[in-house]
Amino acid sequence: MSGPNTEYDPVEVTPLGAEQVAAMRDEALAAIAAAPDLAGLKQTRLDHAGDRSPLALANREIGALPPQARKEAGQRVGQARAAVTQALTERTAVLEVAAEERMLVEETVDVTLPTARRPRGSRHPITLMSDYIADLFVALGWEVAEGPVLEAEWLNFDALNLGPDHPARTMQDTFWTEPASDHLVLRTHTSPVQARTMLSRTPPIYVICPGRVFRTDEYDATHSPMFHQVEGLVVDEGITMAHLKGTLDHFAEQLFGDGITTRFRPSYFPFTEPSAEVDLVCFVCRGVAPTVDSCRTCKGEGWIEWGGCGVVNPRVLAACGIDSKRYRGFAFGMGIDRSLMFRTGAEDLRALFEGDVRFSAAFGTEW
Ligand code: PHE
Repeated sequence: MSGPNTEYDPVEVTPLGAEQVAAMRDEALAAIAAAPDLAGLKQTRLDHAGDRSPLALANREIGALPPQARKEAGQRVGQARAAVTQALTERTAVLEVAAEERMLVEETVDVTLPTARRPRGSRHPITLMSDYIADLFVALGWEVAEGPVLEAEWLNFDALNLGPDHPARTMQDTFWTEPASDHLVLRTHTSPVQARTMLSRTPPIYVICPGRVFRTDEYDATHSPMFHQVEGLVVDEGITMAHLKGTLDHFAEQLFGDGITTRFRPSYFPFTEPSAEVDLVCFVCRGVAPTVDSCRTCKGEGWIEWGGCGVVNPRVLAACGIDSKRYRGFAFGMGIDRSLMFRTGAEDLRALFEGDVRFSAAFGTEW
């Protein structure tokens, strides 16, 4: 039977002696005090309080000691570790405050510094209005159709029941192009898109077409050789003039506000039968008891001219390959520029075309 191991005095085990533990603690405290910032402190924490730090390793030795020595060494190591933990907590608080103060200084914005001022651009009001109108109809389930501005004479005129000898041809002051044998014109209206659409699609057709059109007009406050129209076309079974009226009333109210509806005046277009001029309730006096002097905008009429419309002439349907017994349609066309003048109060059409940024900036923001 072997007796106690008297030669082995565990109190003297090197890593657990009072001096060694104190040295480990002091080294840790010095390193903590010297940590320059939070990142440095993180490393110090690993070195001196982590699993492989001298004090943690010393702690593991304790279990191997006899009871009496274990108690003393346990206290020593425990106190040293507590001191290190506390120092870490305190140093963290100090460094956090320092980090915050540094951040406040470094990230200070001098709001008085001059900047490079660049005015923000804006989209042209006509572009915005065209998009807005297209969106209105897309919301009703319509599609947007497009056509070229350099258009075949046949599509601009003949397909629309405007034969070569039709008197209405001369009403549209046309830009013809050379050579004449190409039979190309700058489209005088967006109506050729009606023809293009009917030739390329089968009913039901619900399309809206905003675009540029050209006429040999003088350039003045109310005329321009280039302006913008929006064309609407529906071809479906059972279409009546009532659908046309309801659509235009909705369109007008969406553009000009509640209560600004439309009225029809009998008119003539070769491509629609019957045809009508569309007037709007005057958006200034709202048609309320107007007199000639009371409203400059409608001159006492209570109504303002807006565009043309009608039931698609069966001859046009036939020319475009659509069964005119089965299908009927309606079409309308109005000036976008004119509508924009109504909305902005611009009295001179040229304001829309001169490219003065003050006009675009004022009216070129989203609606
Ligand atoms: N295209 C006609 C114009 O420019 C307007 C219009 C379009 C009329 C569609 C009726 C139907 O005057």
